[in-house]
Amino acid sequence: MDFDPLLPEIVADPYPDFAARRRDAPVQWSGPLGTYVTFGHAEADAALRHRGLGRLWRPRWPVDGLPAYTLLHVHSMLENEPPTHTRLRRLVAAAFGRRQVELLRDRIGAVARGLARDVRDAGADGSTVDLMPLYAEPLPVAVIAGLLGVPDADRGLLRPWSAAIVRLYEPAPTAAVRQAAETAAAEYVAYVRDLVAHHRAHPGADLLSSLIAERDADGTRLSEDELVATAVLLQMAGHEASVNVVGNGTLALLRHPAQLAALTPELVPTAVEELIRYDSPLQLFERTATVPVRIGGVTVEPGQKIAALLGAANRDPAVFADPDRLDVTRSPNPHLGFGAGIHFCLGAPLARVELQASLATLLTDLPGLALAGEPERRPSFVHRALATLPVTVR
Ligand code: HEM
Repeated sequence: MDFDPLLPEIVADPYPDFAARRRDAPVQWSGPLGTYVTFGHAEADAALRHRGLGRLWRPRWPVDGLPAYTLLHVHSMLENEPPTHTRLRRLVAAAFGRRQVELLRDRIGAVARGLARDVRDAGADGSTVDLMPLYAEPLPVAVIAGLLGVPDADRGLLRPWSAAIVRLYEPAPTAAVRQAAETAAAEYVAYVRDLVAHHRAHPGADLLSSLIAERDADGTRLSEDELVATAVLLQMAGHEASVNVVGNGTLALLRHPAQLAALTPELVPTAVEELIRYDSPLQLFERTATVPVRIGGVTVEPGQKIAALLGAANRDPAVFADPDRLDVTRSPNPHLGFGAGIHFCLGAPLARVELQASLATLLTDLPGLALAGEPERRPSFVHRALATLPVTVR
């Protein structure tokens, strides 16, 4: 039977199915997705890097009637190839370099400690606390909003818009999901246009102001629509992946108490990589062939698509010894959680600092953390995400 990511058992736990399929063939056709899919590490890596395969903006489903959703994607670096991709990425890259991001480490740590305090207060009487809204979600949202210069009072607006848009990345969306994504995209675009106008009139020491200034220095560099799409992409990327590593990763540690007990502050950076590998927050990225491309025994013809399954690559026994074991000391750890090739995650240094702060603070400030019931998963495959993570804190 073809790989079908919509089956409830796959959403619950895709890894046994990935392993069985990888043994059959590392690249297979998926009828439900209408693309080839990779189950091995080498094949996912090749699909992401091959220059005959592109992230060409091409509606995955008819996007008639979704003008705002389309605008955000046609102008996104993630959906473009060189030379447009190079130009858009170069402009934002400096702000996300390792040295730049290191400057934020103390501030991010302070935010994490404030959130841990809220969690401790909420659970001080022994009641169950949901770690997702209280701990996992606020940190990345606050960090990216702060970087871009989004006023504190507006931050609550942003995540629901991102969440509605990324629901349309899942296979077989309903008409209601499409409409909700378009409504969210239209509101997001209008909001960011106003924000750009405000920062243009009152420049500050924030990323949006510097992106505007770059454009003003050379009028051909970033169009108004590119500015909007870039700001929204950064927020959506900031909202939707780091949050889910904190959720999936904390759950993995609570289910492996010996690993949690072995986790010292020095091991936190190594453990963060392992948590991204073990239960990857983003599972699928597609490419479209522009020339015939041979990968894992199949030929992807021009116009056909192939999807790299990152979670499957990250459990490939050809690369990871005992791949189904969570091992917070695993090193080296060449996981593909941040992708590979020219679209390799621009926010990886920032995500790493956020996740290290989050995990280190959990260890020091919430040492009595324990699972207090079965977490709920979001019914999605591309984004592997918890809806709730019930815990007690003492
Ligand atoms: C643990 C958290 C994160 C994970 C696992 C992750 C993963 C990824 C992956 C797999 C890609 C490549 C997509 C592709 O090849 O088609 C990507 C691209 C990207 N990510 Fe992340 N990401 C994370 C956090 C962030 C953050 C915090 C930001 C910025 C605020 C960010 C910004 C971006 C951008 C801008 C791209 C597009 C790069 C390009 O097209 O050149 N990401 N990310």
